[in-house]
Amino acid sequence: MASVFIAYGSTTGNTAYVAESIQRTLKQNGHEVTIEDVADINVAELTKPYDLCCLGCSTWGDDEIELQDDFIPVFEEIENIDLAGKNIACFGCGDSSYEYYCGAVDAIEEACKNAGATIFTDSLKIDGDPKSEQADIDAWAQDLIAKLNA
Ligand SMILES: Cc1cc2nc3c(=O)[nH]c(=O)nc-3n(C[C@H](O)[C@H](O)[C@H](O)COP(=O)(O)O)c2cc1C
Repeated sequence: MASVFIAYGSTTGNTAYVAESIQRTLKQNGHEVTIEDVADINVAELTKPYDLCCLGCSTWGDDEIELQDDFIPVFEEIENIDLAGKNIACFGCGDSSYEYYCGAVDAIEEACKNAGATIFTDSLKIDGDPKSEQADIDAWAQDLIAKLNA
């Protein structure tokens, strides 16, 4: 059994839906999951001894990448922590009609990489309503499980 931490930033509930879906699949497969709205944590949570941290964030802004509001304080502190030896997997909702499709996911992944983290798997990007993309969400969660069990 692995211990997994999920933190998400979500304004209209889409990334929260994805986070809860991932949580459900991991738990059904026997893993221990802690899930938090990113508004309720500080960056030090990412340095705790979880086997995996999943970070979810939607993207806002028009001609530049803006992270979902609640994620910004945590994002800005990532450069001040050491994530060496930590497994991170990123996900988020967006809209591919924008220039920077799911740009927040890429920005968080890059910041974690720069802080020394290991990127556990390719990020999950959901275009539009996540309820229509349930199969992709489930497949991503199953991929996490396969890697955690390996
Ligand atoms: C004003 C505005 C700006 C947005 N900018 C982007 C963007 O730059 N890139 C993107 O992929 N999606 C963008 N979106 C789409 C949102 O990320 C998308 O609606 C997402 O599902 C919201 O997720 P949340 O409910 O978890 O916050 C934008 C939406 C709005 C209303």
